[in-house]
Amino acid sequence: MGNLKIKPVKRLEGKIKVPGDKSISHRAVMIGALAEGKTEVEGFLNAEDCLNTVRAFQSMGIKIEGMGSERLSIFGQGLSGLSEPGDILDVGNSGTTMRLLLGILAGQNFSAIITGDDSLRQRPMKRVTEPLKEMGALISGPDQGNLAPLTIRGGNLKPINYHCPIPSAQVKSAILLAGLYAEGETSVTEPAKSRDHTERMLKLFGAEVAVDGLRVSVRGKPKLTGQSLTVPGDISSASFIMVAAGMIPGSRVTITDVGINPTRKEILKTLETIGVKISLSQVRENLVEPMADITVEGNELQPIDLDSEVIARIIDEIPAIAVAATVAKGRSQIRGASELRVKETDRLRALATNLTKLGARVEEGEDGLIIQGGRHLIGTEVDSFGDHRMAMAMAVAGLVAEGETTVTNTDCINTSFPKFMDTLERIAVY
Ligand code: S3P
Repeated sequence: MGNLKIKPVKRLEGKIKVPGDKSISHRAVMIGALAEGKTEVEGFLNAEDCLNTVRAFQSMGIKIEGMGSERLSIFGQGLSGLSEPGDILDVGNSGTTMRLLLGILAGQNFSAIITGDDSLRQRPMKRVTEPLKEMGALISGPDQGNLAPLTIRGGNLKPINYHCPIPSAQVKSAILLAGLYAEGETSVTEPAKSRDHTERMLKLFGAEVAVDGLRVSVRGKPKLTGQSLTVPGDISSASFIMVAAGMIPGSRVTITDVGINPTRKEILKTLETIGVKISLSQVRENLVEPMADITVEGNELQPIDLDSEVIARIIDEIPAIAVAATVAKGRSQIRGASELRVKETDRLRALATNLTKLGARVEEGEDGLIIQGGRHLIGTEVDSFGDHRMAMAMAVAGLVAEGETTVTNTDCINTSFPKFMDTLERIAVY
């Protein structure tokens, strides 16, 4: 239940690294566990969410070495090498673990119960349990299988061609992972492109994955083989630093080794559009996961306009972007973002509440926010609502607010960026 006290800075300056990508770290453990042989992961995100994934696979008999470090070895046992867990699988705050794991559990010939913390037990799971039931899994839980704790009994899956009503990498991934256990081709078609880390990683491990526009398919029963891979820095964690530096003229910060997967880098385009100077160096293009060093220079910002077509590719960066909108000169709009209501907290409500408290003019709509920028923020007490990204976004707001800003309930930062405050301190010029 820690608190953070934030003081305004003159500017941000220096070179830093952010921790490993959360989405890729989860997938490396999961797919590594289902592969045959050893998988070695460098740059693993050693933070609560991903450790929950590690623990879940250890509970299903997978040997994983290097816990507590950024270098993991996963001793995969093949597609049918998991064993029935002896206890309930508690995945804490991690929605990615729960949804993707449900996809994998759907393929197992055993029963498991999966649960999470207070926040995760309120988040909708029907989006994955419905298609997984269609494939043949037996799933039950509160609210007709929509909420955890969920009991799942898998096995004997049949492939489906699923048209997903929302763009969601978690839904897409759960179905593709279940598709590994179904004979023939399983496909998912999304209304807009979401992050494609599962597709990339499955291919790397030897699965047959085909991508045709918004349709992705996988052929069942592949032989997956253990790999060595490096996880790039998380662009979503980097976004807090990029926004902080970008909105304070005179700042210049380089973040090294950041993932620039095309399905994740919308934030770079958005920041450039509103006036932040961004340059990439050391670009390492590869099919697995491209990365680069990103240099950000602060500027006076223009207003932001985001709509549903891009939202899925900037979904985790909206809390940071909303803070930038408060200092931009003019009226910013974020639309088509109702998914933010079912994240670790209702992020539209939390942003409107907190930014208003800090003196910004924010209108909360059903699926977005209108922010009248250019107002001076004044430090006060704001809450994280138990959401790591809300906590970090509010800390960033505190850097440009007058006086001291207190962010309460900030232990949640450990889910994705445990050294966030140390990193910020290293580049702060007071
Ligand atoms: C994630 C997908 C996104 C994102 C989450 C991580 C993933 O969720 O918000 O932080 O790793 O697949 P949705 O796919 O539910 O939008």
